Amino acid sequence: MTEVVEQEAKAATGHASKYTRNNPFMSTITVNELLTGEGSEKETRHVELTLDEGMTYTPGDAVGILPENRRQAVDEVLKALGFKGDERVLDHYKVDIDLDEALRTRLAIGKLTRGSVTQFAKLAPEIEGLKVMTGPDNKARAEEYCWGREFVDLATDFPGIVKEPQQLFNILARLTPRMYSIASSQVMHPNDVQTTVRVVRYDAHGRERQGLASGHLGERAPLGAIMPIFLHANQNFRLPEDNSAPVIMIGPGTGIAPFRSFLEERQALGHPGDNWLFFGEQREALDFLYKDQFLGMQKDGVLTRLDTAFSRDQAKKVYVQDRMQERSKELYDWLERGAYFYVCGDATRMAKDVELALLDVIARGSNGTLDHAAEYLATMKKQKRYQRDVY
Ligand SMILES: Cc1cc2nc3c(=O)[nH]c(=O)nc-3n(C[C@H](O)[C@H](O)[C@H](O)COP(=O)(O)OP(=O)(O)OC[C@H]3O[C@@H](n4cnc5c(N)ncnc54)[C@H](O)[C@@H]3O)c2cc1C
Ligand SMILES: NC(=O)c1ccc[n+]([C@@H]2O[C@H](COP(=O)([O-])OP(=O)(O)OC[C@H]3O[C@@H](n4cnc5c(N)ncnc54)[C@H](OP(=O)(O)O)[C@@H]3O)[C@@H](O)[C@H]2O)c1
Repeated sequence: MTEVVEQEAKAATGHASKYTRNNPFMSTITVNELLTGEGSEKETRHVELTLDEGMTYTPGDAVGILPENRRQAVDEVLKALGFKGDERVLDHYKVDIDLDEALRTRLAIGKLTRGSVTQFAKLAPEIEGLKVMTGPDNKARAEEYCWGREFVDLATDFPGIVKEPQQLFNILARLTPRMYSIASSQVMHPNDVQTTVRVVRYDAHGRERQGLASGHLGERAPLGAIMPIFLHANQNFRLPEDNSAPVIMIGPGTGIAPFRSFLEERQALGHPGDNWLFFGEQREALDFLYKDQFLGMQKDGVLTRLDTAFSRDQAKKVYVQDRMQERSKELYDWLERGAYFYVCGDATRMAKDVELALLDVIARGSNGTLDHAAEYLATMKKQKRYQRDVY
């Protein structure tokens, strides 16, 4: 077994699963539906995939998906390079395949990296336009060029440089799987795994782009389609061992996914602990993911509290951390009762802003300073009562 395979095998939950990123399970898509309404700026989907016997997961885990590049993207690269697709190449394991298959399933032709530009430039060191993007002094320039571009742009801007299809294996990175937080409880759904996927689409440099994996799931994964998957455990994102402990969950956007899993698990097992969910999205009418299910859980008492922040339903934006501050006193009371605090979703801004709001809630609740709040939070972390799964 290679090191990566061993790590994946160890990371697989429950009894050791034989499926890993290098040996994925060929899962079947059984549900693929749009969660967002017509007119939404988001395209967020609920996707269900079958599991093989012995594949088990725990709420907090993720599922890895191995996507393929889309036909149009492969054709554009072939055209830019002047190849037909039937040329023979050896893949990373020295297996003889045709170039078309290599571009579809083995090579990352999506977002361009500085590494690819550097390797590409080595084939034509005399070309000025490439020279100015290589070497440590030209890092910023190369990064600026890469932004919003894919390999096809490089091949189009500098034609005729790749002479042999095999050279692409030096230029392009390997196609890698993408992780998605699991949105279901296996107690409730023994034979499948469910995810909440936001399809990445944008225009850049005159081309229509889409995310590799989310695009695959959004556009090329009808019911019955086969998708290679593996399960990935996350021991740092777990419901409390004490099932009567209260839980506070902050999950805007697709950050909602693991909390649907947490709530289904607590519901299915009849756990007595209180549950408080903060959900945020742009518009209530279009973007309230799993609305009926959460309202049902609230009615049944599984969801003790549900606070929503629909940022674009009024002139001034409202975010989950604003709701936290409005409920500051109760939130602090829950923390004092030993609540576990979880955050999932955007790492760049949301998770940081939520942490600042949490520190403020603690400082106000305890009539203490921000230094005291930081110590309080550090203690929560040590007790595993502050857990984040952000990306
Ligand atoms: C632990 C974990 C859990 C996750 N859980 C979820 C989840 O539950 N749901 C979910 O949807 N995602 C989740 N993600 C993110 C997911 O793994 C993928 O990163 C995401 O779907 C994008 O992958 P992709 O292959 O579709 O896009 P890629 O092909 O990887 O393209 C994305 C890249 O496109 C570029 N890009 C995007 N928008 C623009 C723009 N407007 N302009 C220019 N460039 C742009 C950026 O460089 C961006 O990094 C999770 C990630 C991790 C690590
Ligand atoms: N790596 C990738 O390519 C990739 C792909 C998919 C998703 N993601 C990431 O996954 C995360 C979830 O994406 P998503 O589209 O489902 O939801 P999202 O972008 O996080 O948006 C959900 C809600 O959060 C609000 N929001 C914006 N900034 C915020 C902040 N600083 N604090 C709190 N709330 C804030 C948004 O409001 P407004 O929009 O009105 O400001 C919206 O109402 C994001 O990090 C996204 O970038 C990454």
